[in-house]
Amino acid sequence: MDKQEGLLCIFGATGDLAAKKIFPALQQWSDESLPMGRIWCLGRRPLDTEQFIEFIEAKGDVQLSESLRNQLTYHKLEFNDSDAYQALAERIHAEEGDRAGRRLFFLAVKPDAFVPIAKELHRVALLTRGHEEHRLVLEKPFGNSLHSADAIQQQLLQWVSEEQLYRIDHYLGKEMIRNILTIRFANRIFSESWHGGAIERVEVTSVETAGVEERVDYYDQAGALNDMVQSHLLQMVALVAMAAPEDLAPESLRRAKIDILNTLRPDAQGPQVIGQYAGYSEQVPESTTETAIKAVLRSDSPQWAGTQFIIRTGKKLSEKRTEIRLSYRAMPLCVSCNQQIAAEPNQLVIEVFPQEGMHLQFNSKIPGYEYEIEQVLADYCHSCRMIGNKPEAYVKLLKDVWKGDKTLFTSFEELQVQWRIADSIRLDARKGEMVVYPAGSADFLK
Ligand SMILES: NC(=O)c1ccc[n+]([C@@H]2O[C@H](COP(=O)([O-])OP(=O)(O)OC[C@H]3O[C@@H](n4cnc5c(N)ncnc54)[C@H](OP(=O)(O)O)[C@@H]3O)[C@@H](O)[C@H]2O)c1
Repeated sequence: MDKQEGLLCIFGATGDLAAKKIFPALQQWSDESLPMGRIWCLGRRPLDTEQFIEFIEAKGDVQLSESLRNQLTYHKLEFNDSDAYQALAERIHAEEGDRAGRRLFFLAVKPDAFVPIAKELHRVALLTRGHEEHRLVLEKPFGNSLHSADAIQQQLLQWVSEEQLYRIDHYLGKEMIRNILTIRFANRIFSESWHGGAIERVEVTSVETAGVEERVDYYDQAGALNDMVQSHLLQMVALVAMAAPEDLAPESLRRAKIDILNTLRPDAQGPQVIGQYAGYSEQVPESTTETAIKAVLRSDSPQWAGTQFIIRTGKKLSEKRTEIRLSYRAMPLCVSCNQQIAAEPNQLVIEVFPQEGMHLQFNSKIPGYEYEIEQVLADYCHSCRMIGNKPEAYVKLLKDVWKGDKTLFTSFEELQVQWRIADSIRLDARKGEMVVYPAGSADFLK
């Protein structure tokens, strides 16, 4: 496809996500050569293209190259203003002429805007239902419960087909998350012991030190459960726990994830704990939104009998870290079994942030004349091996949408199961008291 035959429209182009993730990703992609022609930047602020670029560079702390700047056009568009869509369609048709090109519509907006935007795009003939080159990229969260996700999906399907929908979960574009399949299925040393008989606990953690800051309007409606657990953390659990897919085709991977997600439910023994950091209520008085959550899940799959899946996320905690930690069952040294020597359980940690890599804690003899055991570390730094531009998640995902590769995007069926789990965690967690924790607390990490 030649460069002028495709376009990208970004709704919510003046938002936080656009400035901090989408435009830096486009810049990185542009350094390698962007395949599309015009990039239409849509926002409700009265800006011209030059002012928009200045705004994005300041807000996103990004420097846009001459070449990328020349591809950008700002178009003022209020979501509910039909005339603005008509004007956009006329501008695009004038530029495209008779060419039937690829069209990506990136909706970096709240989920309640998905349906009105799709409807208007369809009305002005920019989006054709069933046209596989017309693709809608949707940000998370897709709704705020299973019920609302179903409602959004049903309405969207009037204007687009499921094949045209690319639901972004940007964690799936991260290097070490994409590495989980290789770690698990290309290493006999791990794959043979990847089950509940060997693994006592799987902990999926994504915590940060920052608070909600200026994103309070969005965050107060979402909370930690909808912002993090329903999407990123459950996808990480699925990748760790799923059975080997038949092959690496998108549908096989999706099937394997859905099958394992269907076996997960909150542990009846809990505890499912929600918390809010002290000071949050100064920003949003009377709010009961959780800013941290710890949930314990169990799987009905025979592969995971006896394993706890612990999920943790939160804001204003003592550290910024994302990882998956597997704690193996203890195995004391017992050669003749007349004498047992205590040995610490092994741990395997897949590090996503701040390091990208993996480490394995195993037991070794302490050097010397005596026979004593200590725990030692085998450490692999994945990011150390990257030279030049590090592949950023959003670049990878945008490239995949452009190619039409849905491997790293969440299907509606997956999403439904994820909402079912998130809704049941919410139900259990809301039965308990909301814990108010001080900024910098380490409580949710225990
Ligand atoms: N920010 C992140 O790091 C992040 C990460 C993952 C997912 N997401 C998801 O991405 C989506 C956008 O997040 P965000 O943080 O970028 O939100 P945001 O900063 O509030 O930006 C929302 C964008 O929508 C525009 N907008 C709102 N109402 C509008 C209307 N009636 N007509 C036209 N434009 C309108 C805003 O314009 P104004 O600038 O004029 O307000 C802004 O450009 C959300 O669903 C969020 O969950 C965000």
